[in-house]
This record gives sequence, C-alpha cells and structure tokens, in this order.
Amino acid sequence: MKHFLTTQGLDRQELEGLLAEAEEFVDVLGRPIPKVPALRGKTVATMFFEASTRTRLSFEKAAKALSADTMSFSPGTSALSKGESLKDTVQTIRAMGADLVVVRHKATGAPWRIASWVDVPVVNGGDGAHQHPTQALLDSLTLLQRFGTLDGVRIGIVGDVRHSRVARSDVFAFSTLGAEVTLVAPPTLLPVDSDGWPVQAAHDLDDVLPGLDAVYLLRVQAERGGASVFPSLPEYVRRFGMTRERFAALKPDAVVLHPGPMNRGVEIADSVADDPRSLVLDQVANGVAVRMAVLFRLLGGEGDE
Ligand code: NCD
Repeated sequence: MKHFLTTQGLDRQELEGLLAEAEEFVDVLGRPIPKVPALRGKTVATMFFEASTRTRLSFEKAAKALSADTMSFSPGTSALSKGESLKDTVQTIRAMGADLVVVRHKATGAPWRIASWVDVPVVNGGDGAHQHPTQALLDSLTLLQRFGTLDGVRIGIVGDVRHSRVARSDVFAFSTLGAEVTLVAPPTLLPVDSDGWPVQAAHDLDDVLPGLDAVYLLRVQAERGGASVFPSLPEYVRRFGMTRERFAALKPDAVVLHPGPMNRGVEIADSVADDPRSLVLDQVANGVAVRMAVLFRLLGGEGDE
C-alpha cells in the first residue's frame, strides 16, 4: 500500500489487516502513557483545504501517539491568498521534510493529483463528495467492536447520500466486510452513480427501520446543495430524521452512528444523539486508532523500528 485514497477496491484481507492493527492501537491509547516510538523521526503534514474538527485533530493526535512530528497547513493564512498553486504549495511542504501528506479538499480527485506531484504517501482526508476512507475504517471498527463481525449485519445509511463522501467510503468497506447495506433517502438525495454499488436502496425509512441492526445517519450537506433538494427541513425531519419515536421503533439492541458534525434536531434528535446506543463518541475515539494504523502502515516499514 503506497497511498490511502479510497475504500473502493480494498479487499477483505486488507481491510481486516488495518482494523486488526487499529485494535492494537486502541490498546496503546488506553495505556497511562498512550504513545509508542514507531514513527520517531518522521513528519506528517496535514493540509486541510476544507473545514474539519475530528479528522484533522485525530490525524495529528495519531501522528503524535506514534512519536512522529506534525506540520499543519491552513489555507486561510497561507500564500494561497497570494495566488500560489496547489502543486507549488504541496511541493513546498514536501521540500521542508514532510514524509506523508494528509489532504482534505473540496475538489474530487485532489488527493490523487497530489500523489502524482510528490514522492511520499498521500492519505485522503476527504475529497469533495467522493471518498473519506479513514472514516470508513473508524466506522467499521466501531461496528466490529459492537457486533463482533459485520457478516450479515444490516446497516441503513440514511439521508444525503448523494453529497456524502462518508457514504461512498462506507458502502464499499461495510459490504466488503460482509454487511448488508441499504441506502435510505428521497430520490433527490440518492447518488446518480450508484449503479453497481453493493447496496439496496429504499425511500421509506419507517419501512426498513425495524430490520436494521445499525442506522448510520448522514449530515445534510447544505454547503454542497443538500438542503435545496427537499421542500423544507421540517419535511426532511418528518420523513428521514432519527426522531425519538423512530428510535423507539428500532430493534432493542440496534445502534445509531453519525460521522459528525451533527445537525441536532435535523437528521438526529437530541435525545438520540445522547443515548447510550448512539456510538458517535466511540466513532470519534476510534478515529485516532485507525489513523495510527494507516500512518504506521504507510510509514512504518522503512523506519528505525
Ligand atoms: C464528515 C466529512 O467532513 O466528510 N465529517 C467527518 O469527517 N467526520 C461528514 C460531514 O461533513 O458531514
């Protein structure tokens, strides 16, 4: 594995290998001193051209827990405002000694372009509405911890699938690991490119709800036009929101996930977000461990191990 850009095409063995490594890092993170020297001397650069709380901070925490140094690029205060190109920016950061670049960009495919410009591993931290592969790893790990396996686990991915890079990454990871995935959304929020995805699709959440083991709620991506394709927010909540009433209709041991940031009161009710069967904060915690696994896999082999 040279880069980590997409879950599409990853086989079960590769996914399970990364998840097993992540489990070991969960243990490391539970120690009194949650740090190992594995990547001492390496430098991880984060370049986030789009807003982020969880993904960026967890990559930085993951790098530090592996004893790597970090460099953090912020577009707002950079020479991008003087017109410097993406290519020159990335090559500048590489020239300063970055050994790996984590990138988030609103343009689909940007991480692949960057991978062609630098001779170091690139990790996709989210490109447009396309892919967010480490999110899929942390979601898979969270579900594995809960169910022991994803084989036969029925997962509904609900909401703005069309604009969701999380959904695009999750669909391939979950189904490769054996889960049965159903996309639940109004026709206007189902993807146009889903032919050939290993999923079923449904338009009525209440129909599918009782059969699900896990409900994965997506944020309505207002900034990508997600809110403009249904009549109103109250209408969205009425048909696709995880309200307290819908939560009560779930199987007793079914769980709820959300990648964050949550629109409380829209795709997820307050009381559901804070319920013990909401795994939102487990997802966040697992984000550090899976990113450690990815960084270690890409940088660990050649170091002073
Ligand atoms: C997501 C993202 O940015 O793709 N958040 C995250 O990384 N946890 C999902 C979103 O913005 O809705």
